[in-house]
Amino acid sequence: MATTTIGTRFLIELLGEWRDGRSSYEALADRIRLLVMDGRVLAGVRLPAERELAAQLEVSRTTVTAAYQRLRDQGFAVSRQGSGTRTTLPGSAGSSAAHDPGLLDFTKAAPPAPSRMPDAVRRASELVSPLLGETGYDTVGLPVLREAIARRYTQRGLTTSPDEVLVTVGAQQAIVLLARTLVSRGDRALIEVPTYPHAYDSLRAAGARIVTTPVSVDSADGWDVDTFESVTRRTSPVLAYLMPDFQNPTGRSMSQAARRRVLNAAAAQGTVVVADETPAELDIDRPDAHPPLAATAHGAQVVTVGSASKTMWGGLRIGWIRAERSMIRRLHAVRANMDLGTPVFEQLVVAALFEQYDELLEERRAALAAGRDAIERLTAETFPDWNVPHAQGGLSAWVNIGAPVSSQLALGARSEGLLITAGPRFGVDGAFERYLRMPLTSSPAQVERAIAALKRAWPAATRHPLPEPGMLAVV
Ligand SMILES: Cc1ncc(COP(=O)(O)O)c(C=O)c1O
Repeated sequence: MATTTIGTRFLIELLGEWRDGRSSYEALADRIRLLVMDGRVLAGVRLPAERELAAQLEVSRTTVTAAYQRLRDQGFAVSRQGSGTRTTLPGSAGSSAAHDPGLLDFTKAAPPAPSRMPDAVRRASELVSPLLGETGYDTVGLPVLREAIARRYTQRGLTTSPDEVLVTVGAQQAIVLLARTLVSRGDRALIEVPTYPHAYDSLRAAGARIVTTPVSVDSADGWDVDTFESVTRRTSPVLAYLMPDFQNPTGRSMSQAARRRVLNAAAAQGTVVVADETPAELDIDRPDAHPPLAATAHGAQVVTVGSASKTMWGGLRIGWIRAERSMIRRLHAVRANMDLGTPVFEQLVVAALFEQYDELLEERRAALAAGRDAIERLTAETFPDWNVPHAQGGLSAWVNIGAPVSSQLALGARSEGLLITAGPRFGVDGAFERYLRMPLTSSPAQVERAIAALKRAWPAATRHPLPEPGMLAVV
């Protein structure tokens, strides 16, 4: 298989402010290690030649040589004569850190299966008989599931018919499909910062030039709508990828007034709003539930992304897109080049779970509340200087750890048995070193283990805080 090489400039962009108080080679190696661990640099990618990277970073060649050697010693790189240094993940081929029972995985904000799962599987087994003579996969979605999804949108205030729904392999495929369909190389695409990192990756992979609008846990409104309006007016992005409800990772929800202004600004520029409402129904104690963004579009074209992964189970890999029929047809045509379709059995399981959806959401909310309360209580006890904003629902708490050491902390936590994603993974320019995302989807016992691991890793992490980068506007 051909090896891809990461561009020197792109790697330097990802490295951000990598220098800390330690020797350069250690700091550089640890930065690259973090990028490999959290997926910003994939395993199997060829790193820049030592001489080239040294010149661009303005360090000695010996520094880069020693950094690459450190990565090899730690199992994060391999070198072969004549083919340079490639990134790799420690452990045997195909093994995943997430399957190591000694490690607790806080990198994913995804819940376990609901208690109704065995019943839904049984029900799907009954329904599957008529389909067993067919291929078992399809590119649009089974009518029974599209009807269930359309019914739910209609109940929530967005009248929808089944042919306005396309079932995908998770919301992730929905985002990739939208990026490939709507973005041509060089087009602008707007994202929130911080954001869901795989959406950012998908837009970049489609060739988008990224522009950003901030979402803050500290400001009253969360969204800086003035910036959204001015960036949209200035750059006319082809699409704006937004999470209006329980934004991942901040947990914030957009106010009704902000929704109206955002949609008006998008409508004025012809920007398609991709509303990722994957976390939208994960309410714990939000006082004002909102209908889907597309219900009051104010003249903007809104395409909605949804998923069964957080309300039901990620292992089913069922997501969907809700859009006008003409858009669904366009997306369906592009999908033909991407995959063969969504498995029908999993679609039937989701359709069966929709039959008991209200009870299922109740169970989910209770579990999220327990995870959230444990995070708030144990963090306050262990790290009184950290600021945990009260999440009214959603997938995660965006915790301000009070010092720019998120990357160092994530690296140290791994040695203490905790995989956790550092704040900068949710940004675009190395920002968010003061933040850590804590998944509400964890049980109180898991939160306790995680906080204990963070406590052990904390002293070493704070010895080497990183200088903080300014908030660069990436245009
Ligand atoms: C906001 C958001 N969108 C999409 C996804 C991907 O969901 P799926 O598992 O359905 O692919 C996630 C998963 O964490 C998410 O948080």
